[in-house]
Amino acid sequence: MVISTRGVVSGGKGEPVRVTEISVPEPGAGEALVNVQACGVCHTDLHYKMGGIGDDYPYLLGHEAAGVVEQVGEDVTEVKAGDFVILNWRAVCGQCRACQRGKPWYCFATHNAAQKMTLADGTPLSPALGIGAFAEKTLVAAGQCTKVNPAISPATAGLLGCGVMAGLGAAINTGGVTRGDSVAVIGCGGVGDGAIAGARLAGAKTIIAVDVDDRKLQWAKEFGATHTVNSRNGDPVKAIQDLTDGNGADVVVEAIGRPETYKQAFYARDLAGTVVLVGVPTPEMKLELPLLDVFGRGGALKSSWYGDCLPSRDFPMLVDLALQNRLPLEKFVSETIGIDDVEAAFAKMERGEVLRSVVVF
Ligand code: APR
Ligand code: ZN
Ligand code: ZN
Repeated sequence: MVISTRGVVSGGKGEPVRVTEISVPEPGAGEALVNVQACGVCHTDLHYKMGGIGDDYPYLLGHEAAGVVEQVGEDVTEVKAGDFVILNWRAVCGQCRACQRGKPWYCFATHNAAQKMTLADGTPLSPALGIGAFAEKTLVAAGQCTKVNPAISPATAGLLGCGVMAGLGAAINTGGVTRGDSVAVIGCGGVGDGAIAGARLAGAKTIIAVDVDDRKLQWAKEFGATHTVNSRNGDPVKAIQDLTDGNGADVVVEAIGRPETYKQAFYARDLAGTVVLVGVPTPEMKLELPLLDVFGRGGALKSSWYGDCLPSRDFPMLVDLALQNRLPLEKFVSETIGIDDVEAAFAKMERGEVLRSVVVF
């Protein structure tokens, strides 16, 4: 049996998204059908719409989601009907060379549903990041469902499924921020504020938020920034050095994805410090640095995909910490909206008015 439901579809490069009837197959082997309760609007959804990710239109957008499993297919043991889950785009395979070497967060063969969701006329949909959760129901691989404590609100929980996890993990997993560290975060959107919250959780002593927007800097303080720097008003490298006894920060997280801010991150870290790039650059961007500085300053230059997270390890833990009031996850939800409001949410995101708009069903 095929289930009919509504979803937000991007039909062609740059075209406004539309809410339309979609068909979702019953789950087959290894798959799960999920009743989506909430799904955040992420930059990646906008990139899909604008053609920045590929040309596999029509896309079913949405990938930062939480909901309840409605039905599972054959052989599924990870989850069962009624489980409250966060959807992830890293259902690790357990078999590739990364998984086999004990580093599954680098898995090269993550799972998605085998069957296709379609438009009402049968045209196959490409689900964003293999999820497609701006829809009342979606079909995913069972491993994409991570069971967490249902006491948390779905709108809050869903954000761990992408941007907030990316930022938190960039600080904690990739950057290895620990007690007593100094940390600077360049770019304080949802991702950067995730890094700030992660740095606080890990016990960083100094957390410097850098942005060009005072409103963002104000929000950053609520997630744990101890100092703020508006880089419109002066050199952020100098400001970070001044706030760290002239040395630079132990870990600098770049959460924008631009060469000029990456350079700031590179020079704002202490000798032998770590730079983490979690902002996503565009294909034409180039970085030029004196190779002698790369060599001479030592340390580590890392990139962080999805915060190097392992959903089964990180999602339940972070939900528990949020429920214990040790992680202000709910503050990332700037507004809740309906399924018809995604286009308007993209506009608000571009104007920098929100950390996250979240569609609730
Ligand atoms: N210097 C400092 N801050 C800047 C600069 C700059 N030159 N340019 C932009 N910013 C700030 C913006 O003011 C904004 O607060 O960076 C922040 C970016 O936040 P968002 O646009 O909300 O993006 P976010 O969702 O946090 O994602 C950041 O990570 O996952 C990727 O694709 C995503 O590349 C994007 C990045
Ligand atoms: Zn693998
Ligand atoms: Zn995302």
